[in-house]
Amino acid sequence: MRAEKILIVGLLLLTAQILITSCSSSSQPQLGKDKVKDVIASFTLEEKIALIVGVGDGKTPPPGVPVFNPYIGGISIDDNGRTLKPDEKMLRFPRNEGYIWSIPRLGVKSTTMHGAGASLTIDPHPDISSSQYYYVTAFPTATSLAATWNNDLVKKVGEALGNETLEYGIDVLLAPGLNIHRNPKCGRNFEYCSEDPLLSGKITSAMVRGIQSMGVGASIKHFAANNQETKRRTYNAIISQRALREIYLRGFEIAVKESNPWAIMTSYNKLNGFYTAESPELLSTVVRQEWGYDGLIITDWSGWGSAVAKIRAGNNLLMPGSQPERNELLLALKNGLLDEKSLDKHLKYILELKLKTPRFRGYTPSLTPDLAAHAAVSREAASEAMVLLKNSNSTLPLSKEVKTLALFSKASYFFAASGTGSGEGKAKHTVSVNEGVKKAGFEVVKYLEDTYSKFNADVLVNSKANDYLKRRVIPQHPEMPMSKATIAQQVSVSDVAIITIGKVSGEGQDNGYEPLSEAEVTLIRDVSEVYHADGKKVVVVLNVGAAIEIASWRDYADAILLAWQTGQEGGHVVADILKGDINPSGKLPTSFPIAYADVPSAKTFPADPANAPENSFYNEGIYVGYRYYNTFGVPTAYEFGYGLSYTTFEYSDLKLSSTSFSNKLSVTVNVKNTGKMAGKEVAQLYLAAPTTSIEKPVHELKGYAKTSLLKPGESESLTFELDRRSLTSFYSGISSWVADEGSYEVRIGASSKDIRLKASFSVSKRIIVEKLNDVLYPNVMLQEELSSAGITRYKNSVGDEITVREADVKANKK
Ligand code: BGC
Repeated sequence: MRAEKILIVGLLLLTAQILITSCSSSSQPQLGKDKVKDVIASFTLEEKIALIVGVGDGKTPPPGVPVFNPYIGGISIDDNGRTLKPDEKMLRFPRNEGYIWSIPRLGVKSTTMHGAGASLTIDPHPDISSSQYYYVTAFPTATSLAATWNNDLVKKVGEALGNETLEYGIDVLLAPGLNIHRNPKCGRNFEYCSEDPLLSGKITSAMVRGIQSMGVGASIKHFAANNQETKRRTYNAIISQRALREIYLRGFEIAVKESNPWAIMTSYNKLNGFYTAESPELLSTVVRQEWGYDGLIITDWSGWGSAVAKIRAGNNLLMPGSQPERNELLLALKNGLLDEKSLDKHLKYILELKLKTPRFRGYTPSLTPDLAAHAAVSREAASEAMVLLKNSNSTLPLSKEVKTLALFSKASYFFAASGTGSGEGKAKHTVSVNEGVKKAGFEVVKYLEDTYSKFNADVLVNSKANDYLKRRVIPQHPEMPMSKATIAQQVSVSDVAIITIGKVSGEGQDNGYEPLSEAEVTLIRDVSEVYHADGKKVVVVLNVGAAIEIASWRDYADAILLAWQTGQEGGHVVADILKGDINPSGKLPTSFPIAYADVPSAKTFPADPANAPENSFYNEGIYVGYRYYNTFGVPTAYEFGYGLSYTTFEYSDLKLSSTSFSNKLSVTVNVKNTGKMAGKEVAQLYLAAPTTSIEKPVHELKGYAKTSLLKPGESESLTFELDRRSLTSFYSGISSWVADEGSYEVRIGASSKDIRLKASFSVSKRIIVEKLNDVLYPNVMLQEELSSAGITRYKNSVGDEITVREADVKANKK
């Protein structure tokens, strides 16, 4: 029996070797040596479909296709003929992610796609019989990276993440994500950057450039308008052409044009009636024709809809792939609904991507990326991401006299590196605030450490959470109540109280913007009352993925530090900031509303997932985030672009290269550190454009720059460039980006509300900067169209009432 097994395995190995090596001696065209079109011309129909549809969960090769199949037990070579250890094989050919077959006879190698968001999510212990572990680094989430407003730093994170991808033998990383934070409840907001398309596009471009500089691919996602998790595979986002172009597509457009990602992943949702993956207007007209994209377009995992429609619309690769999809394509080809020739253009994109991959180049992954160096990158990025929201009477940095900290709340002993789902950050260990402050030299109150650590340990034991589930079990478990008498006992043995509030949302659920529980608010209130009575300070640390409600309880705290979900090193960085070793320089990439009802999409965002409608009307149009709050005079708890520092900055010498715009304009400004501590400042350029026939937000972000670390008294001159496109709004009626004639005001701010300097320039004649295709319109009239027609109330086709706020716009516009 054993001998038989050995014989079978031996035969399999031999067959695989023959399959792999036969290509070199073959007279057939070989990918990499011969023209891509000649390789495509040599495929059989079955081979074409085998490549266009990923391997799928079953990992069963399509009948009749001579693929190299690493999933057969016993084969332990890769498709370059290199012998792999069993665990390496499992890392490089994971069962649950994306894999494109190889066709050895034509020199076509396999491709592995993975994860991801804040880290790779490979199984750290793929072979349980081995003692070897393969850990990855958890970097800050996309929202936290956007909060750094530091493109160079984000690129560095991309390089580290790309390096882990390369060294673990993966070819394409399924990240980064960049949909707009339309509503703070969206469970996946932590995977996305911002409510602003420019910031989203620039941060994503930096990340993609970093990842791809390592010779692996990035796949930006989820294209497009993927702004809710409720009914995630079916909901229909109904968006005006203007809001689409200006808000929801703009970040992707920037990322495509500025970083050329190897792949774009379409989303699960529908957009104006079509699944995004089935929308020829979105994929073929906008992405290919208008943006000139020549990379690979892939579907999100097991998205619903029709394989044929996706292929016809311009999705090149169906992932992770399934036999029913192959069958559907074969049937359509047989019945003449699809022409075999039309498959060739998809294969071209697939093969061109394969040619760039490390697997194709024969790269031997080390399986030992420099995790210590990457941890340092993760920590550096976190140190620029955290945002100081409140700092009464210079509570922070803590004075040198502060020796002992009282760490209240379960989250002080468990820091969530990220949200949950496929975009989560996995690491061997995540540093808690408790560990961080101890490492930084503070004493902690032992009683609290023991009590909360035991509480967390019990929560885990009782829930039987494994390592994976722990990430959500502790944050989602109710806070441990603590009596005022117990709190009072801690005052005399500590100098300052720290309370960490942790909230975790994630893929599959719109559980963001969760209000603090009664137990959490009670804890903050009681600790504050007791500590304040003794003249001691209270600091609240927020370990959250996106915007939460703060206004109702913030008065209790002396200082609030928004630590986000900044990866595995979070606790160290909180300690650095408390101590003053790091001066916070993060600023909000998203508005923090006072109450949920203030959010412009609150009325249309699904409130009750069980009864959510299929259609999501984006009635707020372009008025998302600060564009809404600032234009309509709605106060926020903390506005877009806001963030405190331990020092102060003075802005001066605003200069425009010209006061009349022709093609380009450069803007310079001087930023000086006028305080007592070294620090970095993010200066933001907002542009107020003239209003002629269509409404515009009071101003919009058109540029940003972060200074280097300025010593007290030191200055830096920052430069911003405005091109024709940055002056425009999208006019749906003529499908064009138009810069209206009139006076434009450049506003340089420390936030979207804290405008420090202003200067004007004019455009003498209306410029039609770009004329595009009249595509992607909704089949109901939405706000922008109604507004210009002077209609104020309207019922759309499914009976939802839309109120047009034109009068409000006029009244509130400054
Ligand atoms: C997610 C994607 C992810 C893919 C593979 C899907 O469920 O929506 O973001 O890349 O799974 O993990």
